[in-house]
Parts: sequence; structure tokens; C-alpha cells
Amino acid sequence: MLVSSREMLVKAAQGKYAIGQFNINNLEWIRAILNAAQAEDAPVILGVTESACAYMGGLGTVKAMACGMAASLGVTIPVALHLDHAGYEMCLMAIGAGFTSVMFDGSKMPFAENLRLCRTLAQVCKENSVALEAELGSPAGEEDGISGSGERADPAQCGELAQAGITALAASIGNIHGEYPADWRGLDMSLLAQIKSAVDGLPLVLHGGSGVPEAMVKTAIENGIAKINVNTECQIAFAHALREYFEAGKDKAAKGYNLQRLLRPGLAAIEEVVRKKIRFFGSAKKC
Ligand code: 13P
Repeated sequence: MLVSSREMLVKAAQGKYAIGQFNINNLEWIRAILNAAQAEDAPVILGVTESACAYMGGLGTVKAMACGMAASLGVTIPVALHLDHAGYEMCLMAIGAGFTSVMFDGSKMPFAENLRLCRTLAQVCKENSVALEAELGSPAGEEDGISGSGERADPAQCGELAQAGITALAASIGNIHGEYPADWRGLDMSLLAQIKSAVDGLPLVLHGGSGVPEAMVKTAIENGIAKINVNTECQIAFAHALREYFEAGKDKAAKGYNLQRLLRPGLAAIEEVVRKKIRFFGSAKKC
């Protein structure tokens, strides 16, 4: 059974650790993430972008895949199904389809409009026991058709949005979707500290969690980050494992072309990334 991410995020913010949101891209991704989180006894959030959702056959199919896989694996950890970076209408549809968490991305709208729509959605989410994540500022980079300017969040606006009934806030602090460039200057911890003091304990979210060094993750958690989103690192690990498989000619021997065999190393690579991240986010053994 899927649960809202509200309780896990509140506990994480209080306990100074972060819950991993791992984005899913197909059925095997769901299996690998659930296996990893169960093995670490960690609450977990399955994240789905609009484009990944369309690829997998739409909201209803994704919900059925997540529930079906969780049931067949017999997972006992809390699992939330989260719509990542979506518009207002899509959030309403995801709530209707049984998602337990949605992110309304109003970051490119005028602030007043973002605030107004967050207030309205917060009411719908409350009535349906669904968690609501909002966004201010816009992480640079591009992922699944979501691109941003790198504009940083304004602490005063963060404080105001935190009062809108939302569950969590993604505030841009120099984080980037996708791979970090060699000359990346790191997360702006002093801005994060200002945002933390403006939002009165509301869980904060770090997008672009792939490739952020462990020490920086720890400082970010100290400063209020309670949810960290990861997608790129799993994709790279999966692609790399498949490349090795093909380059070693394994698809040509012992029925290695069989899909189940062929995908196995990729799935093991995702599991390894997810387990490692969960441990350094501090969410292992938190069920
Ligand atoms: P990365 O792909 O950079 O890990 O970011 C994931 C993310 O923020 C999803 O919302």
C-alpha cells in the first residue's frame, strides 16, 4: 500500500536525515528501488516526471505498476508515489489516479500565482491525504524536458509559501538537474540557512541529488534538507552496466540476449546506487 510522504518527511526533518526520492523509468526501475530500500529498511519515494509517466503508459498504469510490484515483492517499508515537476491540472489528475504525493512546479509563474495555486492545491491534497511539494527558484540544467535558469530562491518568498499548506518546499540553492559541471561552485549553504530559518521547520527538498559530494549532502541535511531527488546517477549506472555487458559480448553467449539476463547487471547497478545514497542520506533503518 502506498502512503503519503508527509509523515516520513516530517520525521526526517526532525531527525536530521533525508528521504531519497528515486525517479522511476520503467518496471525494472521500480523493482530495483524497492528492493534496495527494503534491504536498507528505509522509507522511500518513487518519483515520476510527466515524460516518464507518458512513456510508461500514463498515471493509472504507473500507479498499478508501483502497487503491483510492491505487493509482489512483499515490501513492508513506507513507499510514496510522487509526481515530479508538474502543472496544476496534471497534479489534480495524479491525485485522482491515486498518487500519494505531487509536486506543483509553479516556479516559472509570477510568485502571487504560484502562491494562489499552491493554496488551492493544498486544500485538495489535504482532503485526499496527499503530500504537496512546491518550488521556488529554478535549478539549472535539463532533465526529461524540465529545464531551468539557475535562478535562486528568495528566502522571504519561501517563508510566505511555507504558510500555504504545503508539505515540503524545493528551493533552488545552486543545485543542477543532471550531471554537475567540473566548475560547479557547490550548494549555497548560507542561502539554505536563511531559507531554513524562514520556513519554520518545513521539510526542504534538494533536486539534482546526483553527484553532490557526501560532505555537502550532510551539511545540507543539517540545514533543513529532508528529501533528496536522484535520477541521473541511476541512469548512468544502468547504462554503464549494460555497456559493459554488450562490450564483453555477453549477449552473444549462453542465451545472454534474453531480456531478463540482459537487464540484470543494470538493475544490480541501480540497486547499488540507491543503497549507497540511502545510507549517506541517513534514512537506512528509519522504518
Ligand atoms: P538528478 O537527475 O540530477 O539526480 O535530479 C533528479 C531530480 O531532481 C528529479 O526531480
